[in-house]
Amino acid sequence: MTKSWGQSVDLEKRKNLKLIAGSALATSSLLYACGGSSTSASTDSTSSGSSTVTYNALWIPPLLTGTTADGVTTFDLTLSNASVSYQSGAKTNTYGYNGAGFWGPTLLMKKGARTRMQVNNQLNEATTTHWHGLLVPGSVDGGPHQVVAANSTWLTDTFTMKNNAATYWYHPHMHEMTQKQLTLGAGGFIIVQDDEESALALPRTYGTDDIPLVLTSRRFTTTNGVANQFLYTTTAYGDYLLSNGVMNAQASLPRQLVRLRILNGEIERDYNLGVSDGRSFYVIGNDGGLLSAPVAVTRLIVAPGERYEILLDLSGDAIGKALDLNAYNGSDAGLSFGFAGLEPASSGEFGSLINNKTFSVLRIQVAATTANPITQVPSALVSNTYPTAAQATQSRTLNITATGPGAPFTFNNVGFNMNTINQTVAVGSTEAWTVNGGNIFGHSFHIHGVQFKIVSRNGSAAAVKNYEQGWKDTFYIPLNESLTFVAKFDETADATYPFMYHCHMVNHEDLGLMGQFVVQ
Ligand code: C2O
Ligand code: CU
Repeated sequence: MTKSWGQSVDLEKRKNLKLIAGSALATSSLLYACGGSSTSASTDSTSSGSSTVTYNALWIPPLLTGTTADGVTTFDLTLSNASVSYQSGAKTNTYGYNGAGFWGPTLLMKKGARTRMQVNNQLNEATTTHWHGLLVPGSVDGGPHQVVAANSTWLTDTFTMKNNAATYWYHPHMHEMTQKQLTLGAGGFIIVQDDEESALALPRTYGTDDIPLVLTSRRFTTTNGVANQFLYTTTAYGDYLLSNGVMNAQASLPRQLVRLRILNGEIERDYNLGVSDGRSFYVIGNDGGLLSAPVAVTRLIVAPGERYEILLDLSGDAIGKALDLNAYNGSDAGLSFGFAGLEPASSGEFGSLINNKTFSVLRIQVAATTANPITQVPSALVSNTYPTAAQATQSRTLNITATGPGAPFTFNNVGFNMNTINQTVAVGSTEAWTVNGGNIFGHSFHIHGVQFKIVSRNGSAAAVKNYEQGWKDTFYIPLNESLTFVAKFDETADATYPFMYHCHMVNHEDLGLMGQFVVQ
């Protein structure tokens, strides 16, 4: 069924990624190291006219399956300072979990399992660790109140994993420090498995035909006289794309159906993804579970914090062929103002070298088919029963507000305050929440403690995209648009450890576009 899961990743194979494409490819020197494993690099002088791109092997985070004793599986994370060679000269100071240079291991969890988390903070500053998308009580959730002081350890209560099979993630949620700690690299994937997903003929050999892919970008600056450091103030955007922490990432993927678990791990940038030859790909999963059936798309907008699982069909491609998963992030792709990263400036707080452009987020080299490949996109996936608007007994409206361009964003004109509970929800109730995005910019809205169903955009059920019809915990909200979702609030949170709702553009979040609620 899933025999490749639970075994450690064959990192050695990734290290020695061999390139199959033509003679233009030549191995060059070691440029990049991440997660303790080094990667070889190659140069493709044919890819984009006169400019030469040096590719680095996509890093696949190691799997962590936890330690099981007395029926409880414990996942141990240690967050430490690290460093990575991104540019020639000084290394970039970073944060990573469990020895990674950037990011951390992928936690592999099972629905129904008794689970707990332990986080050891080896940084010189406090942090928190939030399990984005997991259905856990506020006391386990790792929000801004659950501070893990420097050189201390946080062990959560034991909880039963309730989430559907899907891709989730963990990241710091420290009050006003999230942009810094995320920028420096702290984060990781969580993959949940369940029986329904395991019964489907889907690619699930981790690192081979089932690939986690976190997209983000960074800007380098000189800090305290040291060059090549990540800038985490005064910028919304990075100049260099990082895919799983790797610049100019390339993956050798087998000639068959391949599953990509895409996470937008950005500070602010949205991604409008597509394949370089224009082919369709298939969205199979949203933030909190598989869809009822795959949805074919040629473009997919992924806002910060969102996850989409897609199938990419490489079965008709020649071995050795190169193609790109691209971000079509320019105004030539039909995007309009409010899409984060469309701003045309190449520098400054709201500009970057990759703004308003099409750029590759993953170079794909088609490789030999594996044994027992998956070659057919399933016609149906899982059956889902979603909460409906008719079941909602309470509705709430959140307006994203600001006194003007450049002023901090707020909800309903109230900035985040650690000591203010903004909403009180009755445990077990179903509610409809409407978010009005406002007239300044687009945003990415996320709420803790639930997986919800989007029921309308701008008051229209038909305007909800086919690919966002599943379980969601985060959504893209364009300029001047509104969205209504329905959720059943089954997880409890008290005023000591309340749940958060916020913009997942973490610079907006840190400046106050966040509120907190109790469920009791
Ligand atoms: Cu991904 Cu409140 O966070
Ligand atoms: Cu925002």
